[in-house]
Amino acid sequence: MKVLVVGGGGREHAIVASVAKSKKVDKIYCAPGNAGIEALAECEPISVMEFDKLVAYAKEKEVDFTIIGPDDPLGAGIVDAFEKAGLRVFGPRQNAAIIEASKAFSKDLMKKYNIPTAAYETFDSAEDAMKYLEQSSYPIVLKTDGLALGKGVLICNTKEEAMDGVKSLMLDKQFGSAGDRIVIEEFLTGREVSVLCYCDGKTIKTMTSAQDHKRAKDGDQGLNTGGMGTFSPSPFYTDEVDAFCKKYVYQPTIDAMKKEGRDFIGILFVGLILTEDGPKVLEYNARFGDPEAQVILPRMKNDIIDVMEACVDGKLDSINLEFEDNAAVCVVLASDGYPQQYEKGKVITGFENFEGKDGYYLFHAATKKTQDGIVTNGGRVLNVVAKGEDLKQARAEAYEATKWVGFANKYMRNDIGKAIEEV
Ligand code: AMP
Ligand code: GLY
Repeated sequence: MKVLVVGGGGREHAIVASVAKSKKVDKIYCAPGNAGIEALAECEPISVMEFDKLVAYAKEKEVDFTIIGPDDPLGAGIVDAFEKAGLRVFGPRQNAAIIEASKAFSKDLMKKYNIPTAAYETFDSAEDAMKYLEQSSYPIVLKTDGLALGKGVLICNTKEEAMDGVKSLMLDKQFGSAGDRIVIEEFLTGREVSVLCYCDGKTIKTMTSAQDHKRAKDGDQGLNTGGMGTFSPSPFYTDEVDAFCKKYVYQPTIDAMKKEGRDFIGILFVGLILTEDGPKVLEYNARFGDPEAQVILPRMKNDIIDVMEACVDGKLDSINLEFEDNAAVCVVLASDGYPQQYEKGKVITGFENFEGKDGYYLFHAATKKTQDGIVTNGGRVLNVVAKGEDLKQARAEAYEATKWVGFANKYMRNDIGKAIEEV
């Protein structure tokens, strides 16, 4: 088979690495890819939003199967564009990707189908939102309805902060039209766990659990980012939590989408918070998490193409998903200053240190080949991943491996997975 992966971050590098292990695949293409993906796939500089060009490229290369990585093209209907051209593609259609692309949609879906989530209200005007904030209790959470690179969520401790938040989201349009509508929701406390699931429209199968660290700084301080590091599995995701979520969250979500005429085919990423009142859904994503994929996929025993084809063909019930009985930790190496201002174009050294090292992975998130060598090309630059017998070992190995690569203004959190040592 010839497989095309759409995207160019650490998640797509992890997907490409999994596809490269498939017995069915003899050629991989990636658009746009990055300097790391180039070692495994033929990369073509087409942006993920240029659907016509991507479809034409897939046809020209006689691609048999395409996998979509990021949220933006899914929300904008890339799967529909590929299907219309008669191409086989893995990911939700636009009418199902809305579960991530609109928070108001997903909140209304959960309310309608009794899926546990935080209480909320939706607002189309800043004036109404501010009026509501006058009589709310704090902390409270503001979320843009639309996609905002994982940064459209504000936790506001006081009324003043919340008022400022409404102003920046709805009036100053910090995230553009994503903030035309906002959701204001109850603040919940508890451990967060992400569970990613394969779906074929009617059957849903959970993968191993993972946990991200969204804040920029140690101790969960600083701004929200796309994710600074992950570990898998989460010790907080117990059998009891799993049983609860299987009954009240996963299957009910897929059934609800089916009832709404929005069959969900692809990856459903369920962001959970384990509150005193039980697990609740914080968010849904319609794709692999970044950097969740980087700790989940290296532990998956199945051939990824077998599983994805089963999803597209509506035969997921025939697949037995299997994961290694170990653990993995991912530490994101970022450019200092991310998620705000940072410099790019710094030369990266030490790639060779990862060569031939079993159980270690260096996924590229934002890198570029230049005459000077491979340089940094964004906020989240590299993902260092290590497997270990347990989380403690994986964590120690991952941090050791962060020393193997270097670049000016390299920044990372030092407490990825530290919570697990308290367990
Ligand atoms: P989301 O993109 O919706 O997952 O939100 C990003 C992050 O904001 C989550 O991972 C949580 O840490 C936090 N968050 C979102 N919603 C809530 C909530 N209702 N209560 C507390 N924290 C939240
Ligand atoms: N790491 C969080 C996300 O991919 O949305």
